[in-house]
Amino acid sequence: MIDLLRSRRSIRKFTEKAVEADIVDQLMEAVLRSPSSRGFNPWEFVVVDASQTIQRLSKAKAHGATFLAKAPLAVAICADPAKSDVWVEDAAIAAIILHLAATDLGLGSCWIQLRKREYDAGRTASEYAAEVLGLPAGLTVPVIMAIGYPAQSSPPHPRESLQMDKVSFNRYGTKR
Ligand SMILES: Cc1cc2nc3c(=O)[nH]c(=O)nc-3n(C[C@H](O)[C@H](O)[C@H](O)COP(=O)(O)O)c2cc1C
Repeated sequence: MIDLLRSRRSIRKFTEKAVEADIVDQLMEAVLRSPSSRGFNPWEFVVVDASQTIQRLSKAKAHGATFLAKAPLAVAICADPAKSDVWVEDAAIAAIILHLAATDLGLGSCWIQLRKREYDAGRTASEYAAEVLGLPAGLTVPVIMAIGYPAQSSPPHPRESLQMDKVSFNRYGTKR
């Protein structure tokens, strides 16, 4: 795990190779093992490999989602706010587990933030994605993960770049 975290980066460029069904199964196993507050599991996942649907999802917001158009796979992390008061945390944990599992399986992935983002003046990015995906009322899409085999190599963040000054011991501001 520590080696995985040392090399992990967000990947936004993918080869055209499809993600195999058994790999998708492993990704879904990983997310379904996510911890959630009180075990309420307020999330659901929509795996998208239909190119047309991926294209439409890539238009969910003006910036930071267009690269999704060229991804072979998208996973919409959906959640039902009525099922947990901390659904945002639960969805974010599932998303990061998906990102790390994808990295571990040799895939690249990148988080696309929809919650608190706009599609246009009248609709949120989450509402737009919910419509594209045909979600039932009550389910929302805070995050979409773009996934595929990496076509870019991003170097690990060097150890010297880590913001060690953000860490205190026992009392804020006390350094070791
Ligand atoms: C909450 C959150 C929202 C993010 N939203 C986007 C996004 O909408 N589009 C995007 O391209 N990257 C997005 N990212 C990826 C970040 O830009 C990326 O993690 C950051 O620049 C650090 O790069 P690294 O992951 O390669 O270390 C998001 C990451 C997080 C954790």
